[in-house]
Amino acid sequence: MSYPHQITSLDDYKSTYKKSIEDPEGFWASVADNFTWRKKWDSVLNWNFTEPKVEWFKGAKLNISENCLDRHLETRGDQPALLWEANDPEEHHRALTYKKLYEKVCQFAHVLKNNGVQKGDRVCIYMGMIPELPIAVLACARIGAIHSVIFGGFSAQSIADRLIDAQAEYIITCDGAFRGAKDIPLKSVIDDALIGIRFVKKVIVYTRTHTPVSMIKGRDVWWDDEIKKVETLGLHDFEPEEMDAEDPLFILYTSGSTGKPKGVVHTCGGYMVYTNYSFVNVFQYQPGDIHFCTADIGWITGHSYIVYGPLSAGASSLMFEGVPTFPDASRFWKIVDKFKVNILYTAPTALRSLMSYGDAPLQDSDLSSLKVLGTVGEPINEEAWHWYDQKVGKGKCPIVDTWWQTENGGILISNIAGITPARAGWATLPLPGIQPVLVDEKGIEIPYKEGETASGNLCIKFPWPGILRTTYGDHERCRQAYFSAYPGLYFTGDGALRDSEGFYRITGRVDDVLNVSGHRIGTAEVENAINMHAGVIESAVVGYPHDIKGQGIYAFVIYNGREDSDERNRKDILATVTRIIGAIAKPDKIQFVTGLPKTRSGKIMRRILRKIAEGEMKNLGDTSTLLDPGVVEEIKSGKL
Ligand code: PRX
Repeated sequence: MSYPHQITSLDDYKSTYKKSIEDPEGFWASVADNFTWRKKWDSVLNWNFTEPKVEWFKGAKLNISENCLDRHLETRGDQPALLWEANDPEEHHRALTYKKLYEKVCQFAHVLKNNGVQKGDRVCIYMGMIPELPIAVLACARIGAIHSVIFGGFSAQSIADRLIDAQAEYIITCDGAFRGAKDIPLKSVIDDALIGIRFVKKVIVYTRTHTPVSMIKGRDVWWDDEIKKVETLGLHDFEPEEMDAEDPLFILYTSGSTGKPKGVVHTCGGYMVYTNYSFVNVFQYQPGDIHFCTADIGWITGHSYIVYGPLSAGASSLMFEGVPTFPDASRFWKIVDKFKVNILYTAPTALRSLMSYGDAPLQDSDLSSLKVLGTVGEPINEEAWHWYDQKVGKGKCPIVDTWWQTENGGILISNIAGITPARAGWATLPLPGIQPVLVDEKGIEIPYKEGETASGNLCIKFPWPGILRTTYGDHERCRQAYFSAYPGLYFTGDGALRDSEGFYRITGRVDDVLNVSGHRIGTAEVENAINMHAGVIESAVVGYPHDIKGQGIYAFVIYNGREDSDERNRKDILATVTRIIGAIAKPDKIQFVTGLPKTRSGKIMRRILRKIAEGEMKNLGDTSTLLDPGVVEEIKSGKL
């Protein structure tokens, strides 16, 4: 057995699950025993879901970067920790052994210190998918600074909002990033974000694309210059900061059903234990395996299953700078063969997009190294599941359908590769320590009875080590968003089915959150961005089924701008959304209307708009409570 807490059989899963529910503290303490702690905990768990307050391993001292790097040096020092494939297939790949990665993280930790970063400071990281991104992440963790990675697709305005919310005084970025045929000028976006922001003290810039950049004296410094200073002094080691288990490790912004994105806060001890545990179990990682997670580190999947989960387990983690269709749709398969990838973890939207190119891009690939396939981020349709199974896995690789969220830290419901049964479209069973429940609209729990099926809103009734602790700077918002709908429960925002064997199938969000190509976007956020456009009076945004993206964004807009063509106005609105949020939030469809269906109290009835967007014109339900039912007819007749 390679990892002491790795589940090895179905019976083992059943008994481990039982133990984890009967004695959660004993169970998680025994898992946590397999890490390097500077001091062990005083108590395993203190919690209530009312405030809410959750503390795991209180009083323990550790550093997560020590667990990801130092503790592997003796046993795995010369094995690859990070492998990297460039956007351009002609560019040489990189492989950083645990020793090399350790050295680079230590050096960059010195750079951060030299630039004034202290324990507890917030550091915003806005970089492309290059090894320097996880190096920056781990260096922050090493000195105890709180990193907040922002996905490279977000706009200057989104970055500014996040910088202000986190009061981040330090930024690490690149001149630019390569993504497919595009070259994204990251530093210039940061410059735009910083117009009017005075509190940022330092911007550290890594050279990747050699795009010309403007460097502000006293504020902006080059990564390479700063590393040289450290090298000249011969500084190769950096003693990790001793962190309390409950000290924040990072903030990651994610969309909710109201307002601006929330800064989800994860802490050092629990997050480490949970990402490691879920990684080695769900994927059944074996020493020497090459794990390829195709997510961007700007999202939680990249945090947990490119960086912290794999590295804390001494795994070899492959990261990819580019996109699945560049230079063509065979790219993933070429990468799998080139690195002899054993575990491939990707999103249904990528699979659907690749499927649309047919089988030809797969024909020259061997893919025989693959052992385990995984999906994440959105429900997977059966057609994509079977394609993944047959064409990629050749019918011999278990597919893990992993359901979880930014707020969860790691996978909560998923089959365990080759150990618990897989079923197309079903996330199946909870991991040990996870206690899902379904509740009806009134919040009454629908208890599981063998042989009975149920559907309802998905909640979790007991904490696990990776659960979010708060939303940065606004604990009440955390309570409101997750712990107020159903008192005593963590509400996920998802709906689910449960079958007679207790398997879960996630049916999608039941709140006003969209899932577009696996990216989480709040309808309110998109509406706010559209409403910023000078010609827009009001708008309402809903999701609709989209073949590739899973969900598309449909915007109903009341427009009173210049007399110009609808096409021109549409483009202006798209440009506005791109500027305010980023291209990922651009509506797929915009319908101009003269009114929106509202109740007498002024609330937009999205239910009706959703049906219209889905093309279900007949079955609109009760419209009698509308202020002006005539609006619905107009919208129906003008549907795109
Ligand atoms: O609706 C669920 C969907 O993605 C949401 C969480 O999004 P985010 O915080 O961005 O994290 C995505 C990656 C962990 C969930 O509320 N979701 C995630 N995984 C699945 C899923 N829906 C169905 N099946 C999944 N496997």
